[in-house]
Amino acid sequence: MQKKNISWASPHYWGNEERYVIDALKSSWISGGAYVEKFEEGFAHYCDSPYAVAASNGTTALHMAYLALDIKHGDEIVVPGFGFMAAANIALHMGAKPVFSDVDAASWCMTVEDIERCITPKTRAIVPIHTYGNVCDMAPIMEFANSKGLLVVEDAAEAIGSRYMGRMAGTIAPVGIYSFHATKTITTGEGGAVVTSNPDLFNRMRLFRSHGMAERRYWHEVPGHNFRLTNIQAAIGCAQLEQVAVITKERDRVYKSYTRLLQNIDGVSLQYYSDKVDPVVWAIAVILDDAAFPQGRDAVIEQLKLMGIETRPGFYSADTMPHIYGETQLPICAYLSRQVISMPSSPTLTDLEIEYVANSLRSCKK
Ligand SMILES: Cc1ncc(COP(=O)(O)O)c(C=O)c1O
Repeated sequence: MQKKNISWASPHYWGNEERYVIDALKSSWISGGAYVEKFEEGFAHYCDSPYAVAASNGTTALHMAYLALDIKHGDEIVVPGFGFMAAANIALHMGAKPVFSDVDAASWCMTVEDIERCITPKTRAIVPIHTYGNVCDMAPIMEFANSKGLLVVEDAAEAIGSRYMGRMAGTIAPVGIYSFHATKTITTGEGGAVVTSNPDLFNRMRLFRSHGMAERRYWHEVPGHNFRLTNIQAAIGCAQLEQVAVITKERDRVYKSYTRLLQNIDGVSLQYYSDKVDPVVWAIAVILDDAAFPQGRDAVIEQLKLMGIETRPGFYSADTMPHIYGETQLPICAYLSRQVISMPSSPTLTDLEIEYVANSLRSCKK
């Protein structure tokens, strides 16, 4: 095998990105501007949602949603212990307490049973994270949350375009957030959005996004923030949205090629997607079994690096970071944290490159 250089992910410009950015620059509208509105409309339309509010990144999108939902000091927010920790970190910034649930060992997402074990009289909200492009089993989660009067914010940062029972990830709960970071399914460099079906929440989020000011300049209705996406970034987003069908088709090709090649390697198990989910897989991730890879996941990452392949470990689970999140016991999250590795997942990977990655992984087996 001839050595290749394969990065874990890199942004790709699919069409009009450069043209729209130059247009935004020339227009002199480099903070707000027409591209922001166009991107919001386009993204809401893509998600089949009535409203979208663009934000400076996925983390500030979460912050904006929590503020609009009036999350308060002392509230408890149930989040999965395996996943990107932005939802937990913003809870902490607001004086709320993240309460970590374990996750399902096959889908790596939180289930309603996991959530039920975390409920106390202080629980205000649940934030299911749709990890790597999978979607949590939202029907029982919504039924449970509605029966208890709990808020639900879907963290669909990694699941742009994934569908659950026909509905876009992020639109099943009344509020969903997305990230357009450079590695995400569509990108604006840094960027994010919240979608909602609720007009009051939409207006409140817009208020919090821009210093809490509405009609009257310098008059603050609420203690707002500056969570705004720039017109230059939105210009990139508009170009990416034009090509989203191509991007998701290519991601599907990459996912299917990997699945075909990896499913037959002993000691490698892919993340499980149920029939209810039609995913746009953001990261192709697998569990490495210790019997087949006794050197351990981190050593495999180093071996693959020598073969020119950049991979990523699974997320550190919340119970491995007690200095921030306190003492918890999350056996499945902890297991995933040790065993999961994600493969290069760009939609621009060629079938030959995917074969090289799969063969390289196979060669690390003892
Ligand atoms: C699940 C999840 N939530 C939130 C975020 C935060 O998004 P951003 O990096 O755009 O702030 C990320 C991104 O990395 C993520 O993967």
